[in-house]
Amino acid sequence: MAQAAEQSRLERMIARLATQRAVLDAAASLVASIDGPVLEIGLGKGRTYSHLRRLFPDREIWAFDFEVHAPAHSRPPVSRILLGDFRESLLTCWAEIGAPPALVHADIGTESCKADAVLARFVGGAIAQRLAPGGILLGDRDMDCAGLTRLETPAVALPDRIAAWPYFLYRSG
Ligand SMILES: C[S@@+](CC[C@H](N)C(=O)[O-])C[C@H]1O[C@@H](n2cnc3c(N)ncnc32)[C@H](O)[C@@H]1O
Repeated sequence: MAQAAEQSRLERMIARLATQRAVLDAAASLVASIDGPVLEIGLGKGRTYSHLRRLFPDREIWAFDFEVHAPAHSRPPVSRILLGDFRESLLTCWAEIGAPPALVHADIGTESCKADAVLARFVGGAIAQRLAPGGILLGDRDMDCAGLTRLETPAVALPDRIAAWPYFLYRSG
C-alpha cells in the first residue's frame, strides 16, 4: 500500500480531491433528514463549495474565509460570505446564520499539519456547541471535539497507487 509521504504532490492532490468528493457525498446522505444550513469553513477557490451547492440545492450555504479567492460561479452571494479570521467569525456569526447548521465542512489544512492542529481544535470546539442534533462536522484535520461522536471515515475508492487521504467526521448527539 502506498504511503502518503511517498506520493508526488499531484498524487496527493488526486487523493485529497477524490476523498473530499466521496466524503461530502456520504455526509450529505447522513444529514438528508436534518434541517439547517450548511457551513463551508475555508471557501478558498470554491471547489468544495461548488460541490456542496450541488448536493444541497435548496439549503442556505454560508462560507467563511479571510478573503474571497473563489470565482463568482463557485461562491455564495456576498450576503452569505463571512469574511475574517475564523477565530473571530465563528464566535460572532450565529445570530446572523439564525439556525443550527446541519452540516459543517472545515477545509482548513495547509502543508503543515502541526500548525493546523490548534486552529482545527478551535473550529471543533466552536462548532460542537452549535451543530443541530444529528448534524455532521467533517474536515481535513482532526478537530478533537468533545461532545461530538467521531464516525468512521467512509470508504473511498481511489485510483491505483494513490494513498488514502485522511478525513475526519463527527456527529452531534
Ligand atoms: C484549503 S483552503 C480551502 C479550499 C476550498 N475549500 C476549496 O475547495 O477550494 C483553506 C482556506 O482557509 C482560509 N483560512 C485559513 N485559516 C484561516 C483563518 N484563521 N481564518 C479565515 N480563513 C482562513 C485560507 O484563506 C484558505 O482560503
